[in-house]
Amino acid sequence: MQVVKYMFQPHGDDRGQLIALEEFKDIPFSVKRVYYMYDTKEGVVRGKHAHKSLQQILICIHGSCKILLDNGFEKKVVPLEKPYEGLYVANDMWREMYDFSPDAVLMCLASDYYDESDYIRDYDEFLKMVHEKQEKG
Ligand code: TYD
Repeated sequence: MQVVKYMFQPHGDDRGQLIALEEFKDIPFSVKRVYYMYDTKEGVVRGKHAHKSLQQILICIHGSCKILLDNGFEKKVVPLEKPYEGLYVANDMWREMYDFSPDAVLMCLASDYYDESDYIRDYDEFLKMVHEKQEKG
């Protein structure tokens, strides 16, 4: 499984850092929604779902967390620890977010509006879908 991590270009000067993200330049899709999670309690695992068509970029803009990516065949754990790193999460990818530091702010840029019907929240259903898709080619 290929992990696609973006290193965004900070516009740093003696005042500090600034990162600007533009769709189709820094982000490979049109951004229709931004959401972020913070004040995540110790031991919590968020996510635990896949999306049928949504693409996302996850950026831990403060603190740190870990992202488990699982395409149904292989799993990878990606730490997010820097505000200039962005993790691309494709559709058909099971994701879990965990090990949040108390100060973590995880921001998600999404290619579409919130739509519950795009979610796959059952892991067995996810496995069935990706394995059937692979068999069909
Ligand atoms: P949830 O899907 O449980 O978050 P996670 O996948 O990170 O565990 O979402 C928590 C709540 O927020 C749930 O009631 C749905 C709502 N929500 C929105 O209204 N809009 C959104 O864009 C998202 C991601 C969630």
